[in-house]
Amino acid sequence: MINFRQMIAVLLEEVLEGLGRDEIAAMVEIPAESRMGDYAFPCFRLAKAMRKAPPLIAAEVAGKLGGAGAEIFEKTEAVGGYVNMFLKKDVLLSAVVAEALEKGDAYGSSEMGRGRKVVVEFSSPNIAKPFHIGHIRSTVIGNAINNLYSFMGYDTVRVNHLGDYGTQFGKMIVAYRKWGSREDVENQPIKTLLEYYTRFHEEAEKDASLEEEARLAFARLEQGAVEERELWQWFRDESLKEFSRVYAMLGIGFDSYAGESFYSDKMGRVLDLLREKGLLAESEGAQIVDLEAWDMPPALITKKDGSTLYITRDIAAAIYRKEHYDFYKNIYVVASQQNLHFRQWIKVIELMGFDWAGDCEHIPFGLVSLEDGVMSTRAGRVVFLEDVLNRAVERTREIVIEKNVNTDNIDETARQVGIGAVIFQELSNSKIKDYVFSWDKILNFEGETGPYVQYSHARACSVLRRDAGPEGRLAEAAACGNGATGLDLSYIAGESAYELAKALYRFPEAVVEAGEKYEPSILTRHVVDVAQAFNKFYHDEHILVENEDEKLAKLALTAAARQVIRNGLRLLGMEAPERM
Ligand code: ARG
Repeated sequence: MINFRQMIAVLLEEVLEGLGRDEIAAMVEIPAESRMGDYAFPCFRLAKAMRKAPPLIAAEVAGKLGGAGAEIFEKTEAVGGYVNMFLKKDVLLSAVVAEALEKGDAYGSSEMGRGRKVVVEFSSPNIAKPFHIGHIRSTVIGNAINNLYSFMGYDTVRVNHLGDYGTQFGKMIVAYRKWGSREDVENQPIKTLLEYYTRFHEEAEKDASLEEEARLAFARLEQGAVEERELWQWFRDESLKEFSRVYAMLGIGFDSYAGESFYSDKMGRVLDLLREKGLLAESEGAQIVDLEAWDMPPALITKKDGSTLYITRDIAAAIYRKEHYDFYKNIYVVASQQNLHFRQWIKVIELMGFDWAGDCEHIPFGLVSLEDGVMSTRAGRVVFLEDVLNRAVERTREIVIEKNVNTDNIDETARQVGIGAVIFQELSNSKIKDYVFSWDKILNFEGETGPYVQYSHARACSVLRRDAGPEGRLAEAAACGNGATGLDLSYIAGESAYELAKALYRFPEAVVEAGEKYEPSILTRHVVDVAQAFNKFYHDEHILVENEDEKLAKLALTAAARQVIRNGLRLLGMEAPERM
């Protein structure tokens, strides 16, 4: 598609001396209000070199551009120290509509990541612990980041680093042997295993020998003892069944479930490497890497009894991923509570001499708390993700019936909209912000919510459904760009049509910005903008008019809007129902 920013940079490069094209492109701004133009160039930085006041420079530049850029500009004007540029509306409109219809589901995608692999680790719940509302953040944000990178042409690998190893499994094994029932575990694996875990802690307060017993059980598990291994495997399988149910509801999949246990046989090598590099030190029987010089507590590599830790497994995992995937980037979508942990082990990788340490990136997000306090597994104060999703679907079902929503499958619509509402709300705020989970908020369907955006999409579908003929002609028009047999877009000269076209034009930029900043909320925001612009167009303009050419032009813009909303929702991990 025409890259206006780039074109403007080329034009300005000729007019301005001493500034490079890329530099200029980065300086070009998009004014907050469209009466200030579609693009603006600030001249303040040039004042010193040119020994002129910015307004004077702006006036000069605007004058010269008028001639040179006449092909793309309707007008250019100097306001204050800015050159405001107004594009020719039909140039932008036809470029956007043709491209959106031609590329369809691929509109907004690029090849910028071609040949580069990005490992996206996300979700990573702990086996035998609840998949609670806190995990939704990593799951939903990570999935969106993965989709964005894959849309930008990167080859992505979705990894679920399951918390399926560690001393807590010793506790669970002991608890199961003492108080467990196979039937209970099979019926309600996570809830039952969690009960064992909680009970273990209660009993261990009275009887300290339990801790020692658990430690031994985990040591046997690490050494590969058959009985412990079988129990562990069974706990893992049963838990994974429950997790899979949630992933299926969210429509999320993974390429690898290599969790912590996967690295249990790769620890020896990590220890050897650390030793070789002279990084290991002994401290009270434990092996550590001293990080004092970087103002961090030591990284605890093995305990007194030789068993490895969470951080050891992360070091092994990073090395494995580099060797196995040869990643360009290896990113971790994990809560900000683990900031220190990531800084520690990434530093250790760097000290080991791996020059790719800087390609490992922790993408933190803020805490979710409940209205009555911080979530706590031990205190039993958790909201289960599956309950949230089920309740959202149920509540949506009521609304669908109450509002007599246009659908021939109430259950399906309730599922698409209910789950979508949860995902959208999760991706609406900057990810680093803490937030308090509230049922009222998540099920509020008014305002800038997922259901609102989905509804706008369904509305566009409905317009395009009402007129039976145009789909074929639209496709034809799209295929030959804006040629003679194509569309006459001069019919859509209204302000709201142009604002909509601009929002559609910016979609590919929003994709890249959201991806590069690891911030899906940028895309969420943009999808809301598109939906609002489309609704305004829908209200301001009569689309299905008598004049066939005018109607076709307006339907083409409607189809482009539908496509962009659909693509945006898909990247966020949501469905786009056609009727609502
Ligand atoms: N299982 C951990 C938790 O639920 C998250 C794992 C994060 N990933 C990692 N590579 N350390 O807290």
